[in-house]
Amino acid sequence: MDYLLTKEQLLARKFFKEFVEKEIKPIAAEIDENETFPHDTVRKMGKLGFFGIPFPREVGGVGGDYLTYIMAVEEIAKACASTAIILSAHVSLCCWPIFAFGTDEQKRKYLPKLLTGESLGAFALTEPNAGSDAGNQQTTAKLVGDAYILNGTKVFITNGGVADVFIVFASTDKSKGAKGISAFIVERGFEGFSIGKVERKMGIRGSSTAELIFEDCVVPKENLLGTEGSGFKIALQTLDGGRIGVGAQALGIAEGAIAEAVKYVKERRQFGKPIGSFQGIQWYLADMITKVEAARLLVYNAAIKKEKGILKSSDAAMAKKFASDVAMEVTTQVVQIFGGYGYSREYPVERMMRDAKITQIYEGTNEIQRIVIASDFLGKI
Ligand code: CAA
Ligand code: FAD
Repeated sequence: MDYLLTKEQLLARKFFKEFVEKEIKPIAAEIDENETFPHDTVRKMGKLGFFGIPFPREVGGVGGDYLTYIMAVEEIAKACASTAIILSAHVSLCCWPIFAFGTDEQKRKYLPKLLTGESLGAFALTEPNAGSDAGNQQTTAKLVGDAYILNGTKVFITNGGVADVFIVFASTDKSKGAKGISAFIVERGFEGFSIGKVERKMGIRGSSTAELIFEDCVVPKENLLGTEGSGFKIALQTLDGGRIGVGAQALGIAEGAIAEAVKYVKERRQFGKPIGSFQGIQWYLADMITKVEAARLLVYNAAIKKEKGILKSSDAAMAKKFASDVAMEVTTQVVQIFGGYGYSREYPVERMMRDAKITQIYEGTNEIQRIVIASDFLGKI
């Protein structure tokens, strides 16, 4: 698909590949094994401009485009899905809504540090009883004088344990249902805000996934993002962009697994021949490569449409759903191609299979993506 890319995008991708080879691949197994957040790598990524790619220079960004950013997520995910989601959650789910819906003052205050990685961002929508049904927010925000007082609990928040800035959704008027939800910019140090349980996970174990607790948390009035009651639309529009990031993460995981398989089938010999010479194995590879190519088309299509301002929710949902299903199928098949060695932690493919699973679940399960796709085409019935 290189014919689609400009000279700048090709150069950026070369740079991402070199960074991944030098800084990310060597630590990927270790951060998974030890469940450690890669603080040093994230700091380096911030200094090198990864977090500012799709934002204009006027707000402190790099002045790149959405596809370039999506290729960064993809290249990183080839080696380390944990680092890929740290980047995607930060850029798509925290920086982007501030850029798109923030006041000039909010952009001036938060974006320069977020876009250089001096502070890390997170997006807090999910609650114990509001997962797929995200409109059923139980966290409340009440305006008292010059501040909103937040009460409630968020669960499964990516970057949660380590972030400095959180986009938090809460109901300012329960009687209005989803139309009573508002969005807030919450800083880690705000009174009444604390981090709860940190999840121990099947995959993406180098990323932090945490519970957030709001107990009479004091959020200054000027930290309302958008207007009162516009929070749910802000959340869903933000997720339209975020789902392209998860699609890119899934695509990268699948590509990384295929690269491992291609090496392995040439080296591993059985019945006196490399296993790659068996037609059965070649057919597996041919099917996987074809599906990955299709996933890339959907993911890049959504990224280009987002850049042009013509993205439909279904474009992002199709990219996320298809690419994540491909990632799960491909990584499972690659473990099979590795035989017993695929099941061993000596090789990265078992990690890739564990990492692939989450891409079918977060930023809306693939069942929810089907709802989004169908409703774009059917409209309200
Ligand atoms: N952009 C803007 N507005 C939108 C929109 C969009 N993409 N999609 C819908 N809306 C509007 C609708 O038009 C509607 O407005 P009106 O009432 O004015 O017409 C309003 O939002 C409500 O829409 P729905 O009636 O469709 O809402 P719903 O309650 O039926 O829910 C849903 C729809 C698609 C199921 C939604 O709840 C959803 O996406 N759920 C999944 C939650 C999710 O993705 N969570 C991800 C958490 S973040 C995460 O996971 C991050 C990570 O891992 C790193
Ligand atoms: P449920 O909504 O309880 O769903 C259970 C099952 O029912 C699923 O299979 C689902 O598809 C199915 N289902 C539900 N409703 C329907 C329906 N209408 N039709 C058909 N099937 C349906 N959230 C954030 O806000 N921010 C984050 O940064 C974040 N990061 C995450 C990181 C990780 C590692 C994980 C595990 C989750 C993260 N999440 C985050 C939450 C994630 O978005 C939710 O887990 C996801 O949206 C599903 O919600 P749930 O877990 O409550 O499942």
